[in-house]
Amino acid sequence: MISLNIEKTFGFISKASVAAYEAQVKAAQEALENGTGKGNDFLGWLHLPSSISQEHLADLKATAQVMRDNCDVVIVAGIGGSYLGARAVIEALSNSFTWLQEKKNAPVMIYAGHNISEDYLYELTEFLKDKKFGVINISKSGTTTETALAFRLLKKQCENQRGKDMAKKVIVAITDAKKGAARITADKEGYKSFIIPDNVGGRFSVLTPVGLLPIAIAGFDIEKLVAGAADMEKACGVNVPFAENLAAQYAATRNELYKNGKKIEILVNFCPKLHYVSEWWKQLYGESEGKENKGIFPAAVDFSTDLHSMGQWIQEGERTIFETVISVEKVDHKLEVPSDEANLDGLNFLAGKRVDEVNKMAELGTQLAHVDGGVPNMRIIIEKLDEYNIGQLLYFFEIGCGISGYLLGVNPFNQPGVEAYKKNMFALLNKPGYEEESKAIQARL
Ligand code: PA5
Repeated sequence: MISLNIEKTFGFISKASVAAYEAQVKAAQEALENGTGKGNDFLGWLHLPSSISQEHLADLKATAQVMRDNCDVVIVAGIGGSYLGARAVIEALSNSFTWLQEKKNAPVMIYAGHNISEDYLYELTEFLKDKKFGVINISKSGTTTETALAFRLLKKQCENQRGKDMAKKVIVAITDAKKGAARITADKEGYKSFIIPDNVGGRFSVLTPVGLLPIAIAGFDIEKLVAGAADMEKACGVNVPFAENLAAQYAATRNELYKNGKKIEILVNFCPKLHYVSEWWKQLYGESEGKENKGIFPAAVDFSTDLHSMGQWIQEGERTIFETVISVEKVDHKLEVPSDEANLDGLNFLAGKRVDEVNKMAELGTQLAHVDGGVPNMRIIIEKLDEYNIGQLLYFFEIGCGISGYLLGVNPFNQPGVEAYKKNMFALLNKPGYEEESKAIQARL
C-alpha cells in the first residue's frame, strides 16, 4: 500500500498538534459517511470504487475495443474534471515516446475542449485531416463552452472525413442522464453514451466513465485501477484508527501547517510522467477548498527540472510553503551510467550506478535542503507507477480532500466561483439571455 511520512513537518508543527485533530477528523469522516455535511448531494465518489460492477467495466471495455478497432487517434474533449483524471492516469502509465511512433498498439490520445485557442484547434483539425479518429465528448453539464465548441468542430470533421455511419460508431458521449446539449446530441445522433452520476462532481469523477473509458481506450487495465482505489477506500475508511489512516493524517497535517502560516502546498514529483497527476490534484484541491476567502493554494513542480527554475524560490523565498512529494520507489526499466575512459565530463564517479539512484539522491538531497531552508516536507511513497498504485493514489487524494475541506469548514463539493468569468464572457459575446449583463459590462469597458 501507499504510505505517508510526515516526520519532516515536525520541526515546524508538533506531533501533538497533529494528533489533536483526531476528534475533528473523525467528525469530518462521519459527516462524509453519513451524508450530514456540506455538499452532501455530491458524495457518490465516496464508495464508488467498491461499488463498480463487473458488468459496467465490461461495457466500458467493449466500447473501448470498438474505438481501438476503428481509430488511430482518439480525442478526449473535456475540461477540468472532465479530462484531467483521464490524462493524469494515461500519462502516468504511458511510455514517454512510443506515442511518436507510427505503429502502436493503442490509439494516440489527444485532448481538446480544455482551451479556446484558435491556433490549438486549427492545428488539431489540420493534424486530424488524414487520421482515422474518434471523439469522446465529456461534459457533465453538457453545456461547457470550451468543450462544446471543440466538439462542434470535431463532430463535423469526423462526419465529413469518416462518413455519418462511422462517425456514429467512433463518437461516444459521457454526460448527464437527461439534461444538457451533449445528452440531446447523443440521443439524437444515436451515439453510444455513458452517464456521469448526479452525485459525483467533475473533479471526483475519474473513476466514472469520464476517466475509465479513455484510460481503457489507451490500453490500461481499469480493473486494476479500480481495485487499487477500492483497497484505498478500505484503508481510509471511517473505522480505521486516526494514526493508521493515511488520508486522515494527510488532511490533519496540511490543515495544521495552514494554521501555522503555510498557505501554499507544492506537490512535487521526480518523474515527469506524474505532471498531469499534479494538474489533476491542483484542480481537486483548488476547486474544493479555495472559497470563503480561505484555502491552501495548490501548486506543483516537476523535479529535478524545476529545481533549475522554482528551486531558488522554494529554497529561499517567502516561508509560506510546504511540500508534499510523491516518491516512486521502483522504476520500470534499468539504465546504468556508462564508464568513459576519457572522463571529459567528470562523471565517472557515477559510472555503474543506476540513473534512478542519481535521481533518488537528488530527491533526498532536495528534501534535506528544503527542510533546512524552512520548508516542511511530507512524502507520499508509492511502490511503482502501475494501475493498482495509481488507483490507490487517486482515491487517497479524493478522500483526503473531502476530509480536509470539512476541517477547513468549507463545502468541498461546489465551485460557485467558477461562474464569474463565464457570466462576463457570455455578456461580452452577447449570448441570448445575457442582455442585462451585456449592457452592464459594456458600461465598464
Ligand atoms: O470539478 C468540476 O465540477 C469542474 O471542474 C468541471 O469538471 C468542469 O467545469 C467541466 O464541467 P462539465 O463536465 O460540466 O463540462
